[in-house]
Amino acid sequence: MPTILQTPPFVVGMPTETVYGLAARIDEPRGIEGIFRIKERPFFDPLIVHVASIEQAKTLTTDWSKVANALALKFWPGPLTLVLPKSEIVSDLITSGLQSVGIRMPRHSQALELIRAEGMPLAAPSANKFGKTSPTKAAHVRAEFGDLVPVIDGGACEVGLESTVLLVKSSGAGCELSILRPGAIGQTEISETLNMAALPYQWVTTVSKKESPGHMKHHYMPEIPLIFVRAGSALQHEGSVLPELVAKIQTELQNLPETVEGVRLRKPQGLLQEIERFVLSDEPAIAARELYAKLRTSSAQKPDVIIFFEKELHRGAKWEALLDRLTKASSLIVE
Ligand code: TXA
Ligand code: MG
Repeated sequence: MPTILQTPPFVVGMPTETVYGLAARIDEPRGIEGIFRIKERPFFDPLIVHVASIEQAKTLTTDWSKVANALALKFWPGPLTLVLPKSEIVSDLITSGLQSVGIRMPRHSQALELIRAEGMPLAAPSANKFGKTSPTKAAHVRAEFGDLVPVIDGGACEVGLESTVLLVKSSGAGCELSILRPGAIGQTEISETLNMAALPYQWVTTVSKKESPGHMKHHYMPEIPLIFVRAGSALQHEGSVLPELVAKIQTELQNLPETVEGVRLRKPQGLLQEIERFVLSDEPAIAARELYAKLRTSSAQKPDVIIFFEKELHRGAKWEALLDRLTKASSLIVE
């Protein structure tokens, strides 16, 4: 009997604790190709492979180091993706030709059940079209892909932001680490775990573009242009929308290019009249959980623009991942 993912369309919307993924078996090229086609994703952006056990993770890499093991024991299942040297069972299509593969174990019972039922690791990017807002509910995936993709409804995602992507490179006695994408698990917790295990490591900040192919300036964009106003900007006054700010946004939006790195920027059609304030909880975990759903509901009101006022409190480490997503989702940042 073929499994769900050995049957057309060879892909399924999979709930995880971070965001919904568009999943396919790593040994089913029709599924892997389907992911790129359905998402309209460029082939240079590699996929993350999801596992249900550490044993399964070991089959995907040629270097399951002590550091990888310690981090997996501490943070899996959970929102940490380890980028490690790939083994031959991972195809070049999945890794976009890179010699490394991103691996994680999701913390969601239905995702783990699906991986076990397939008996095979599953490649899954976030289940949104390339450059657009990530899905945190089954309804978001349905709205994006309609009948093209069956969806497993696992409720609203608990974390709400994509996993931390950590590049792990063995070098001599130690290990070089770099965070390619910030997420719920931060550098401090990773360091603490390795210190406790007495494993040598070093943080490396400069990573070549080739090693970090997903670093686009714009991503996660809602349908309506989002404007990010920095805390401390002269145009931000107690959260009120000043006429000078509206005038500046109007001019600057018109001067933006149509696309940046293949992602289409959102621009208002005419004069800015309807302005929606985008407000998040002051509690970072709640703000993260709500972010993508709120970007969608704000867009659905069809304002001309959505404005987010950064606050001083957003400067802390706990806000790093959320601010990364919000600034990339913005058409314009007002300093
Ligand atoms: O939380 C998550 O990670 C979600 C859920 C579904 O697991 N997945 C996700 O996948 O966010 P995606 O494809 O939207 O983002 C994966 C990111 C991309 O920026 C990609 O470039 C990077 O991970 N990545 C994947 N494999 C890589 C590799 N071998 N080297 C460097 N970066 C890699
Ligand atoms: Mg994504």
